[in-house]
Amino acid sequence: MIAAKPPMGWNSWNTFGKDIDEKLIFQIADTMVREGYRDAGYEYLVIDDCWSLKERDSDGNLVPDPEKFPHGMKAVADYVHGKGLKFGMYSCAGILTCAGYPSSYDHEYEDARLFARWGVDYLKYDYCNFPRNADGVNRYHTMSMALKATGREICFAACNWGHQQSWNWMRSIGAHMYRSTGDIFDNFRSFMGIFQSQLEHLCQSGPYCFNDLDMLTVGMYNQGNVAIGKPCTDGEYRMQFSLWCLAGAPLMIGADIRNLVPQMKKLLLNKELIRIDQDLECRPPCLVGRRSVMVPEEDRENAVEPLRAVKDQLFTFIKHLSDNEFVIAYYNLFTEERDISFIFADAGVPYSSGYGFDMRDVFTGEELGVKRDYYTVSVPGHDCKVFLCRLAPFHS
Ligand code: GLA
Repeated sequence: MIAAKPPMGWNSWNTFGKDIDEKLIFQIADTMVREGYRDAGYEYLVIDDCWSLKERDSDGNLVPDPEKFPHGMKAVADYVHGKGLKFGMYSCAGILTCAGYPSSYDHEYEDARLFARWGVDYLKYDYCNFPRNADGVNRYHTMSMALKATGREICFAACNWGHQQSWNWMRSIGAHMYRSTGDIFDNFRSFMGIFQSQLEHLCQSGPYCFNDLDMLTVGMYNQGNVAIGKPCTDGEYRMQFSLWCLAGAPLMIGADIRNLVPQMKKLLLNKELIRIDQDLECRPPCLVGRRSVMVPEEDRENAVEPLRAVKDQLFTFIKHLSDNEFVIAYYNLFTEERDISFIFADAGVPYSSGYGFDMRDVFTGEELGVKRDYYTVSVPGHDCKVFLCRLAPFHS
């Protein structure tokens, strides 16, 4: 069974772009095991664009660049599998990949067979250089079928950036996850914009076909291939990671995990946040209270009309988990510290019910005990607080 829960792994693009080779992939595989990423659930190791030669061979096959991958892709897959991980690769529905390498338009079945022969378990499938008169929905369906025809279980990670309202049809053509936004960059505006744009589509994300908010930039600090704008702060990375987990999005690490600072490794390995992401029920977070905005301060000017009018930059979510558990989360889009209140009645738990929430901080593990009526926290600028909660009666 593929993608019963949001897929988790590592992808080469955000940090390494075209600078990939077998040595790097082996080291990443070693790191995923040694440092506990595999055991935390990150199972796919995915090579993104730029792995092949610029031409197919005389039989029409894609050819791994022999300078980057001197032992071929089967050897890479074997190494990755030997570490107890799954192996992912990249192609594109167009004529060339986004970086200009040959891709799978009109080669879907032969390429899928080749990937299956190599032992590929995951295919990211991009949308650059797609012929104008071709039918995008049909071509994603074609690759989905071509993968199925191999008989191998291959996670189909479609990435058409939301064209033709992809959230409405990706599940029905067999994709296991789908990117419905443009590329993430390693800055606050980029990840907030992505989250904001997908919030209303998260109800179309769930078991076997998840809305993919793109590879994480957590821990990159502007090192690598997607560095544009101001580097993120640790608080902003906490926001990014926890928003992806609230969304139940695939968690694909983009940072160089061989050199991650300890606090970012700890964040990516946070058991409670991962458990929230992987929760069985896959419910999207519910924006509660009057705070219905998600436009970063700096973005107000560019915000789409209906959102520009809204002033509030403090927002709170509740997410229902399985087994009567909840997440209550607070986000501060201001640059300065602010108090944020979560009024339990806004989430259906008025004081008169006699119930409050027993709360535990997911970042610090601190037990707050049972709060009644509301809970106000002080949240630093561009940061968040996230609590795991259970309903609990109180006696007044
Ligand atoms: C597109 C995708 C990215 C990455 C690059 C590779 O831009 O959206 O995630 O795969 O192509 O060229």
